[in-house]
Amino acid sequence: MTDRKPYYITTPIYYPNSNLHIGNTYTSIIADVLKRYKTLLGYEAYLVTGTDEHGQKIMESAHAHGKEPQEFVDKIAAETIKLWEKLDINYDTFIRSTGKQHEKDVVDIFNKLYEQGDIYKGEYKGYYCTPCETFWTESQLEDGKCPDCGRDVNYQEEETYFFRLSKYADKLKELFKDHPEFLEPAFRQKEMLNNFINKGLEDLSVTRTSFDWGVDVPFDNKHVVYVWIDALSCYLSAIGYGDDKEKFERYWPASVHLIGKDIVRFHTIIWPALLMALDLPLPEKVFAHGWILFENDKMSKSKGNIMYPEPLVELYGNDALKYFMLREFNFGSDGDFSSKKFMDRYNSDLVNDLGNLVSRTTSMISKYNGGVIEKGTEEGKFDDELIALAKETYTRFTDLMDSFKFNEALETIWKLIRRANKYVDETEPWILGRDEANLPRLNRVLYNLAETLRIVAQLIEPTMKDTTKLILEKLGTDNKGFESAKEFGLLEEGAKVSKGKNLFDRLDVEEELVKLHEKNNALIHERLADKKEEEPAVEEEVKPEITYEDFTKLDLVVGKIIEANDHPNADKLLVFKVDIGSEVRTIVSGIKKWYKAEDLIGKNVIVVKNLAPRKMRGIESQGMLLAADFGEDLTMLSTLADIKPGSKVS
Ligand code: ME8
Ligand code: MG
Repeated sequence: MTDRKPYYITTPIYYPNSNLHIGNTYTSIIADVLKRYKTLLGYEAYLVTGTDEHGQKIMESAHAHGKEPQEFVDKIAAETIKLWEKLDINYDTFIRSTGKQHEKDVVDIFNKLYEQGDIYKGEYKGYYCTPCETFWTESQLEDGKCPDCGRDVNYQEEETYFFRLSKYADKLKELFKDHPEFLEPAFRQKEMLNNFINKGLEDLSVTRTSFDWGVDVPFDNKHVVYVWIDALSCYLSAIGYGDDKEKFERYWPASVHLIGKDIVRFHTIIWPALLMALDLPLPEKVFAHGWILFENDKMSKSKGNIMYPEPLVELYGNDALKYFMLREFNFGSDGDFSSKKFMDRYNSDLVNDLGNLVSRTTSMISKYNGGVIEKGTEEGKFDDELIALAKETYTRFTDLMDSFKFNEALETIWKLIRRANKYVDETEPWILGRDEANLPRLNRVLYNLAETLRIVAQLIEPTMKDTTKLILEKLGTDNKGFESAKEFGLLEEGAKVSKGKNLFDRLDVEEELVKLHEKNNALIHERLADKKEEEPAVEEEVKPEITYEDFTKLDLVVGKIIEANDHPNADKLLVFKVDIGSEVRTIVSGIKKWYKAEDLIGKNVIVVKNLAPRKMRGIESQGMLLAADFGEDLTMLSTLADIKPGSKVS
């Protein structure tokens, strides 16, 4: 431990239900740059990221892949760690919510809240959105769908434990009033107040009983802890909440939780209320960034319009990717990722502006002064303006970084770069170079350029550390620390420049777009194939021709559902009693994901009557119901008009 001031940063704890795309990766890239920036300023910055591995959504994804949840999350967590290595995300702890210590901490937290009366037993009646892992009341739904993601919700009535969220409503109001800096951008505060806090907070269901992929409630293990309570607690367990008190006290409270706009409510209502109940200090800030679209559309794996970060890094490197992600998007607003924009910015900002300044400067020093940097004795027009801007840039940059305006912060550095390029045109070194007598002036011009570049190199270090290293090497100097960018004139006389290879080579946009999309599509296919292979439900093969005779071997009849229940031992199955005219059959069907049992009572269905019976999780299914499915969608087949059960289908 040192006497440096701690600065604790978190990314969201990502769901490992699929590989992370460029939108998820955005937060981690920002967090990484912020950590490097704070470290360079002398803070002891600490970065936590990880995976949120419990809950119904993960369990269902695992099953859709034909895997047990633990095996499923192990694979994606390992791939996420690999991704962070590839992107050079400099995290300190990667917390997994299925880790033993974390689970123990969740149990402790739950016990404490229960014992002090902040958690009590009751019955939950309401809706649940599994993709969002969110509870909703009837009045919160929009057209009967999840108000956050627009997808279907499930009605459920189950025994549950509640957290007394309502008790903290006034304290939360005070928090928003007294600490407007707690949630940024500021417009999100109004959203939270108007849409939730001021409407009245209801107690929050914090356990589930309909599945068991979660941390068992210690005193009632028919319940598992609600995945969001589990996930938020990662911010505590990752820094030693239960097993390293000294470390915990050093880093908590977090300096900033970086999150996406979709999870603001969890971080600025539920989370502070929980911390209040635990009597822990609140995080200093929650900063919510916007949504990143891909080519103006919502990224979705099933639509195949997803951009993965791996191909970008493999083709263009981490420095370019991080620069783009910070420079292109206004942190806080929605933005659009487009491959073409990436290429264009690469060519304009990195090749034309920065690359060009470096190559012009080093080659002129080589050409006119044998590669040796000298200060030159003759000042001239334009010097003051360039030097003043170079000196100011540090303060402008740090002010903007400190207010999380990453795009503007980088823009101030590029203003300086462009000013320096203009200075070359203004001072015309190639004309000065025609006459030996101009050397005192020429060397001064070249020095000003080289020193500006040194400052630029220092300032881009949090974002583009490899480029920093390359520029300083080319200038024949060493890294003098981030704060050396405040001063103009530190570059040593006598330093020897080297030209070396270009920092960035111009991209042929058309060619690169093809290359990038090929690589990205290959990944999409690989990651999609991984699922299909284990999910025989998606049939795509062409079947051999059959005769009419073959078809008549099927005994298809109309049935009427007279009873429908959840299967007692399976999450995905429903058990029906179906009247097929001659008798009533028990039929088990894997359609629970799409239908609620009670909604199907009285419906006509098409039954395969002569299918050999088979046991499904302990119950014999005497026939099969027909359904049509495509990808994630499924619908039962029925008859257009009501007709007597037992009617033949042909
Ligand atoms: O929400 N653009 O995990 P998650 C920008 N496990 N950000 C995006 C995005 C996009 N297109 N798509 C997703 C969870 N994100 C919880 C967090 S924290 C205690 C628990 C962001 O994997 C999203 O906004 O669904 C969120 O910040 C992050 O990716 C993780 O989302
Ligand atoms: Mg999400």
